[in-house]
Amino acid sequence: MAKTVTIGKSNVSTTKLGLGTNKVGGHNLFPGLKDEDGAAVVKAALDSGITLLDTAFMYGLGRSEEIIGDVLQNYDRSKVVLATKAAQDSDNDLKNNNTPAFLKKSVDIALKRLKTDYIDIFYIHFPDETTPKNEAVAALNEVKQAGKIKAIGVSNFSLDQIKEANKDGLVDIVEDNYSLVHREAEKELFPYLEDNKISFVPYFPLASGLLTGKYGPDDADKFKQFSAEQYQLIMKGLDVVRGIADEHDATVAQTILAWYIANPAVGVVIPGARKPEQVDSNAKALTVVLSDEEYKAIDDAFSAFK
Ligand SMILES: NC(=O)c1ccc[n+]([C@@H]2O[C@H](COP(=O)([O-])OP(=O)(O)OC[C@H]3O[C@@H](n4cnc5c(N)ncnc54)[C@H](OP(=O)(O)O)[C@@H]3O)[C@@H](O)[C@H]2O)c1
Repeated sequence: MAKTVTIGKSNVSTTKLGLGTNKVGGHNLFPGLKDEDGAAVVKAALDSGITLLDTAFMYGLGRSEEIIGDVLQNYDRSKVVLATKAAQDSDNDLKNNNTPAFLKKSVDIALKRLKTDYIDIFYIHFPDETTPKNEAVAALNEVKQAGKIKAIGVSNFSLDQIKEANKDGLVDIVEDNYSLVHREAEKELFPYLEDNKISFVPYFPLASGLLTGKYGPDDADKFKQFSAEQYQLIMKGLDVVRGIADEHDATVAQTILAWYIANPAVGVVIPGARKPEQVDSNAKALTVVLSDEEYKAIDDAFSAFK
């Protein structure tokens, strides 16, 4: 099974395991974060062989990009795959803006914060209400032709918006909410992406920590998005994963990540982390190889969430 992927129709390739960085400098989203811890998380990822870093303007209103840019100064840039996103307009109360002028300006500012001269994957983070999506993507294609970005992505777009964005076949990658406990994307989105050679990156792959197995039956109130019945099903599913993890001498999180890595519909899985130890542990997911039976057992254990 290939553990490296090529992103859409671009020439960007990476391992199937990356790092989500909303807890790197994302002080506006998660109170109490320290920049030093964020830098340590990024270093841990690059030192453990993870190559793709997924950031965004919105994580710390540029701070996440700046921390990553600083850390990168001590690494070989050509071996790192940098993905970032923009849409929130700081001149307009952070309202989403997909206009060509805003997107082009956002790429230039992101390049400065990341202290680099190209970005591997640039996503439109959220759709706005007015810009035709193919015009937004055409603007990014101009930036791509100029060599400033290498692949074009969209995030949080409905399927209809993705189709509009991809009218001219220019979208390489889509990032959206997907995990074993949030599987709607399997119905219509995955077949469209496969037919159109568009890669998929799931966000919240560990359901914000729930799928690491560190929460038990008494923690249901921390995950109010699930009914009591759904939460019980998740606990049962995690018992199945725990049994398989034990066979591999692996953790639950590593085994869940190995499931995504084995899933042909998933391009790159980008678990987030608050601490370097979590990154070191999650990176070992690349060494966990599930048998077909184990893959199916995990799939079946969470089939209620399809
Ligand atoms: N495009 C978008 O709109 C969008 C939206 C959301 C996220 N994202 C991206 O997707 C990435 C992933 O999402 P996410 O980070 O929010 O959620 P996630 O990957 O589902 O969960 C990550 C969280 O789980 C905990 N964790 C991770 N590894 C662990 C381990 N080995 N042991 C114990 N706990 C562990 C950590 O939180 P604690 O230590 O605090 O428990 C970590 O921050 C983000 O970082 C971001 O890059 C994109």
